[in-house]
Amino acid sequence: MKLILVALFSTLPSLTSSAACPDYSSFSAQRHEPLSTGKYALSYQRPLPECRTFNSSAVESTITRMTSPTVIADPDLARLFENTFPNTLDTAVRWHGHSATDPNEELTFVITGDINAMWLRDSANQLTSYQPLLPSSPSIASLFRGAINLQARYILTSPFCNSFQPPPESGIPPASNSAAATDSVFPSYNPSEVFECKFELDSLAAFLQVSTQYFHSSPSSTVDFFSNFHWAEAVSSLLHTAKSMLSPTYDPVTGAVLPSPYTFTRQTTRSTETLANNGACSPVGNGTGLIRSAFRPSDDATLFQLHVPANMMFAAQLTSAADIASAIGEDAMASEMRALAKAIRDGIEKYGTTHLSSRAPHSETAVETIYAYEVDGFGSAAVMDDANIPSLLSAPLFGYLSVNDAQYQRTRKRILTSHSLKSGGGNPYFMAGPVLSAVGGPHVGPGMAWPMALIVQIMTSEDEDEILGALKQILRSTDGLGLVHESVDAFNASHWTRQWFSWANGLFGQMILDLHARKPEILLCSFQ
Ligand SMILES: *[C@@H]1O[C@H](CO)[C@@H](O)[C@H](O)[C@H]1NC(C)=O
Ligand SMILES: *[C@@H]1O[C@H](CO)[C@@H](O)[C@H](O)[C@H]1NC(C)=O
Ligand SMILES: *[C@@H]1O[C@H](CO)[C@@H](O)[C@H](O)[C@H]1NC(C)=O
Repeated sequence: MKLILVALFSTLPSLTSSAACPDYSSFSAQRHEPLSTGKYALSYQRPLPECRTFNSSAVESTITRMTSPTVIADPDLARLFENTFPNTLDTAVRWHGHSATDPNEELTFVITGDINAMWLRDSANQLTSYQPLLPSSPSIASLFRGAINLQARYILTSPFCNSFQPPPESGIPPASNSAAATDSVFPSYNPSEVFECKFELDSLAAFLQVSTQYFHSSPSSTVDFFSNFHWAEAVSSLLHTAKSMLSPTYDPVTGAVLPSPYTFTRQTTRSTETLANNGACSPVGNGTGLIRSAFRPSDDATLFQLHVPANMMFAAQLTSAADIASAIGEDAMASEMRALAKAIRDGIEKYGTTHLSSRAPHSETAVETIYAYEVDGFGSAAVMDDANIPSLLSAPLFGYLSVNDAQYQRTRKRILTSHSLKSGGGNPYFMAGPVLSAVGGPHVGPGMAWPMALIVQIMTSEDEDEILGALKQILRSTDGLGLVHESVDAFNASHWTRQWFSWANGLFGQMILDLHARKPEILLCSFQ
């Protein structure tokens, strides 16, 4: 999730094996024929077959099926699906092989796109778009297993970190990260294994997410897989780490300052790239049941450490992954996971909300309760949302609550209201403009709206007008390049960030498959 780092990390090594294969960073910033035949004339953006990083016949047949005019009628929409859905396989599976210590242990190293490192969050989400193919595709199942095994290794060695270097087995040298060169981090880590060490609770949740997706979609022989390698040890490390982050800033009896389980500082000109209070971040109250997260899913520092969407996702994923622990006979672990999930859930409902006295004309009640984005356990709350998942907007997608939940709907309405005094205050990071109206965030800054948030809006909506409006905005926001960018200037379609952002591309593909299942008639509309 790193616009800024792209500039800071010196040139990436070539990401393709063949000299004839162009670097996808430059390839994806140019238009290639044949252009789509609609008014947006979108570029074809798939690499040549010999330059693709992974081949899957299941993905190819999905593309053929979906881009038939009887499924997706609009030529520009079909082109955007054709480019985006395979993007992770086409460009980001940097290495797939086996462990040096166990030839049966598969490993998959998936890069984010323009950064040559594996994020726990991004890689889990990059694979999520292929989850529907898991039951029928042995090669996709192997990719999932490899990612789960490699993530388990990362969590066993460096459970506080968010992004990682290639495994030694790959023979790929570690990427240099000049941004992290001045970092002072506790607990310390090994830079030949870790690319960056920001503690983000949702990174741990991402490991559970990719695990449960595999478990629930590949019924045969998955139980053996989870007991054969290091999954349970990784979960044990994850539980220990998460619980250590329950600790408050002050001793509730004596008032003395307690040592922080994690600290991080960096020399930087951006306040979101380092932590206040000598790296301990903002103070946290005791006994909320919520787990601290020093950084957000955008990799930006939290304002208040009790990040509500990350706690929601962690609670939901702990509950589903407890089924895996039960299936492999780890009953004590399963109970511990369920108990922790329940305590977090109780904490969210009790401390993770905020009451707003509503000045909005649309509001029926004088005071409304919504979910806060972050709280501190002392009574402060951030009222906002950020485009990166987990966000409040995406809470139904990771299974914390149902789309119809009344408190979710109140929160959603607020998140999708722009910052204006007239509306009585909305989400300070909702951007509204002629190109795009969507949630953004401080990572790229005000004025930049994120297509990813529009995709989440579609996936959490039953309203056909809202869905059609959001699809139209995404189609007109690619600057003719036919890929989903990280952020786009709400007022200028030519101004955007990250030409190669694999997760956002996969999420677009996933959303189209979801629409095909839920509302196929929408895909038969014209966007011309
Ligand atoms: C994918 O298939 C093409 C042929 O269509 C081949 O040239 C290429 O090497 C394959 N890629 C991988 C990673 O196996
Ligand atoms: C904090 O609160 C919890 C729950 O209310 C309590 O069990 C615990 O002893 C308190 N103190 C610390 C240092 O966690
Ligand atoms: C829109 O953005 C492009 C690319 O950054 C820039 O060259 C152009 O001047 C911008 N247009 C306006 C009207 O600001």
